[in-house]
Amino acid sequence: MAASSSCHLFILLSLSSILVGAIAGKSKDIIDGPLLTSKIATNRTILVGAKEEFKSVQAAINAVPDGNSHWIIIHIRAGIYREKVVIPESKSYIFLRGNGKGRTAIVWNDSSNNNTHSASFTVWADNVNVFGISFKNDALVGVPDAPFEQSVAAMVAGDKVAFYHCAFYSAHNTLFDHKGRHFYESCYIQGNIDFIFGRGQSFFQNCEIFVLADRRTKILGSITAQNRQSADDNSGFVFLKGKVYGIGDVFLGRAKGAHSRVIFSKTYLSKTITPAGWTNWSYDGITDHLLYGEHDCHGPGADTVRRVPWARQLTDEEVSPFTNIDFINGKEWLPAYYY
Ligand SMILES: *[C@@H]1O[C@H](CO)[C@@H](O)[C@H](O)[C@H]1NC(C)=O
Ligand SMILES: *[C@@H]1O[C@H](CO)[C@@H](O)[C@H](O)[C@H]1NC(C)=O
Ligand SMILES: *[C@@H]1O[C@H](CO)[C@@H](O)[C@H](O)[C@H]1NC(C)=O
Ligand SMILES: *[C@@H]1O[C@H](CO)[C@@H](O)[C@H](O)[C@H]1NC(C)=O
Repeated sequence: MAASSSCHLFILLSLSSILVGAIAGKSKDIIDGPLLTSKIATNRTILVGAKEEFKSVQAAINAVPDGNSHWIIIHIRAGIYREKVVIPESKSYIFLRGNGKGRTAIVWNDSSNNNTHSASFTVWADNVNVFGISFKNDALVGVPDAPFEQSVAAMVAGDKVAFYHCAFYSAHNTLFDHKGRHFYESCYIQGNIDFIFGRGQSFFQNCEIFVLADRRTKILGSITAQNRQSADDNSGFVFLKGKVYGIGDVFLGRAKGAHSRVIFSKTYLSKTITPAGWTNWSYDGITDHLLYGEHDCHGPGADTVRRVPWARQLTDEEVSPFTNIDFINGKEWLPAYYY
């Protein structure tokens, strides 16, 4: 009797760990399409491709019922989809699955001084997972004689949105991490000015950040422009592991909101990082509430001797609330993450 109930308990526990199913494994493991698909476990799939029922990504998204509350996979076959794609607030629980970031791409070319207008891909909905897709804005900005404007590749404005093995291509303002809790895992992000910006509460793990030159101007661009507004604002960008390298000279971040926070931990920083590290450009308030920190970074750009005085070198203890998936409450909602 005792044996059988403990056996039932064991089965229950195993079952619940499958259902929660959050853990991917050690950080050397790869979270790929099949793994995510098994965690998300749905029998609803919509196909997008030249020979499928849906030829465009937007048409497939439109087919998801408003108020959707069960996971639905939109599988996007290899190809370049030249369209502007929006997941509206009413269409949650979408798993947008590509065939790999080198094979499935969503591309458009708007530019605008209003960042909510130019994105090639916009997510307003909560609970969205994305795997293996490139998002690109190929508007002609960042080159001589081009309009001096921003061109967003992706704007992420929903809560609980995760990108695995995706890529974001543009120059100026590539990734608008607008608001909500987000996870970016093994993603590639390129740009030159403020190219990861917004007020999101986001965890970037094992990401590759590539710095482009900017040929319009001699000012140094910045990788991040985080916009945390107050002490009780949960937003902030955390970069764990991964690498930063490229061509142009950049700052790791520029102060945008009075309480902005950006942390790079255990990250490779190449010579593209300018020695001052961080800038208060366009921000003239006090720097006391900013948290611009580095922790255990390495590479030629990680030398902190000439950093601005308000840059912080964080101890293991100071950094621990951030360098953990709990920073975005990931254990509660991510289909897969590392431990
Ligand atoms: C999909 O799964 C749901 C719930 O598990 C079930 O009710 C439904 O019949 C299934 N649909 C198909 C087409 O298998
Ligand atoms: C940007 O566009 C949105 C939507 O059209 C609008 O609500 C907002 O006011 C605009 N922002 C600025 C700064 O013009
Ligand atoms: C955007 O791309 C289309 C072709 O796909 C082209 O006709 C248009 O001129 C481009 N617009 C800009 C602003 O580059
Ligand atoms: C902003 O940075 C400049 C250049 O490093 C410095 O002179 C100025 O005092 C800074 N402003 C504040 C408020 O720290």
